[in-house]
Amino acid sequence: MEKLVIEGGVPLRGTICVSGSKNAALPILFAALLLDGPVTFHNVPRLRDISTAVAMLGVLGCPAGFTDDKGHTIRAEAGRLLPEAPYELVKTMRASVLVLGPLLARLGRARVALPGGCAIGARPVEQHTRALEKMGAVLELDSGYIVGRCDRLRGADITFDFPTVGGTEHLIMAASLAEGDTFLRNAAREPEVVDLADFLNACGARISGQGTDTVHIRGVSGLRGETYSIMPDRIEAGTFLAAAAVTGGDCDIAGCPVEELTAVMAKMGEMGISLEPHENGVAVHRTGPLRGVDMTTRPYPGFPTDMQAQLMVLMALAEGSSTVEEKIFENRFMHVPELSRMGADIKLSGSRAVIRGVRQLTGAPVMASDLRASASLVIAGLAARGKTQVQRIYHLDRGYEGIERKLEQVGARIRRERDEG
Ligand code: EPU
Repeated sequence: MEKLVIEGGVPLRGTICVSGSKNAALPILFAALLLDGPVTFHNVPRLRDISTAVAMLGVLGCPAGFTDDKGHTIRAEAGRLLPEAPYELVKTMRASVLVLGPLLARLGRARVALPGGCAIGARPVEQHTRALEKMGAVLELDSGYIVGRCDRLRGADITFDFPTVGGTEHLIMAASLAEGDTFLRNAAREPEVVDLADFLNACGARISGQGTDTVHIRGVSGLRGETYSIMPDRIEAGTFLAAAAVTGGDCDIAGCPVEELTAVMAKMGEMGISLEPHENGVAVHRTGPLRGVDMTTRPYPGFPTDMQAQLMVLMALAEGSSTVEEKIFENRFMHVPELSRMGADIKLSGSRAVIRGVRQLTGAPVMASDLRASASLVIAGLAARGKTQVQRIYHLDRGYEGIERKLEQVGARIRRERDEG
């Protein structure tokens, strides 16, 4: 195993480039299963989750891969598709369940391992399966696998119980090749949903309303391969805004999507951080003290749960007290005990955290538990006095491309080491 060793206290200065979005790339890669002919994806981040998606496509009969060792372009082409998504791959990345709908749409049958829970919550997929059943799929559970069959999927009028990002993406894919019209109501409005719909429309799909709470998909009989560039990663960008701000630094976050980060930037502005959008990204700097704020995570366009842990580090060092309400996942506070080990003053009660700002965090060995918790520990380490060792960083490698290289380039003292412990 590897760990990151960080010597904190250096204000970050310089330019950090944002990579392509992991959470947009995953469903878009799986959408290759729906296409006839080769497809080329640009701006794909080089991450462990992307390798898992590529492996999954290969197992399903859609060979895919980066076109060279360092670049960000993936080519894929669906051949003779196979219906089984094995547990070995689904258990390492739960987004793999999104292949169920495309397989049903193309093959009329599928056998896809049911993902289990994960560190941040139980994360069931009943909204996905109920909606696919409404489209005519017959689904049953067999030895931990969802086994499905159908004739051609039929358009349906589907109302989600709450806006689910994966559920909305899953049904957009399935409905694109269904017979007739599908309406998804109470749909997720996240920019990654929009990116998937835009990609499918480029391939010949007829999707409208993406980015609103009602998405209309008129099924088509076939989709062709295209060339598409994945949107920038708004959460990676937000993580770097937080890292620059917490160190009292002065950075340019190149390629930072501004509109998609409206809620995050508004909250950071309230905390006293200066953010200046410009043509190529956002300039971030902070000279004054951080101020405490109250924040609640919500579906887009609200404050994203994927930035909650990172913002909490800023709160931990802010004047006065702050509160966080986590409304999306039931167990997304795994970073709290680790931040407390570094001197943060945080009280947890159910889905609410009360954070009293302290003057200083101190370096400590800490343990990463999930992707965004890991990012928050890195940010805390950059701000802390002394040495922080973030263990179990394989979580970080799922979602942040070359994080230590990017941070080192703006002056952070950070290195990757083998962890013998
Ligand atoms: N939920 C259900 N039943 C369902 C579907 C969802 O109860 O059938 C619950 C979930 O357990 C959760 C809430 O609904 O409590 C929202 O889940 P959603 O389906 O919106 O999330 P997701 O699609 O599983 C994606 C991102 C997450 C991000 C969430 C929320 C990907 C691959 N993952 O997950 O990203 O936190 O949306 O924005 O796109 C991350 O990148 O670190 C990450 C966890």
